[in-house]
Amino acid sequence: MEDPLKAICEDALERKWVWISLVLAVGMAGMLAYYAVASNIHPPSNVETIDSSRLHLTDEFAEDKLGVRSNDDGSLTVTLVAARYGFYPQRIEVPADTRVTFRIASADVLHGVHVPFTNMTTMIVPGYVSEVTTVFPNTGEFSLLCNEYCGLGHDAMWSRLVVVPKTTGEASS
Ligand code: CUA
Repeated sequence: MEDPLKAICEDALERKWVWISLVLAVGMAGMLAYYAVASNIHPPSNVETIDSSRLHLTDEFAEDKLGVRSNDDGSLTVTLVAARYGFYPQRIEVPADTRVTFRIASADVLHGVHVPFTNMTTMIVPGYVSEVTTVFPNTGEFSLLCNEYCGLGHDAMWSRLVVVPKTTGEASS
């Protein structure tokens, strides 16, 4: 069979490497598709829009509404605003082994939030509410870091997450 790449490339060795890279690329795309289906991986499905310039006027993201709130089922909701350069409120305290749902909105540009040594991480896109639910198994003090470059103060954009033992863990903000 005539090599279809012959039309664009004369050199046999070069064609061989083009084929190798094509096969690799198709193979990797196939693996990605396979694992996405097999492990039931989805992008974050919470699509909720919000006017980033009017967060202070909303019921949920006004300054006095931010922080930790208990729900009837025993879980917690943490409402945060990400803004250059911090996450507000700047210190939050949650009990370990408890379902915590973070709801975060950006007041300005794209930010990301990441808590090292936990699985808590998400992008915070202006105009959308980011929602992540997780459980912190370990107590201690963690940093809430911004992991999307957002300006000159990006490397100083962090807040504190304190995970306290569950028994004494009264929610507070
Ligand atoms: Cu916010 Cu980087």
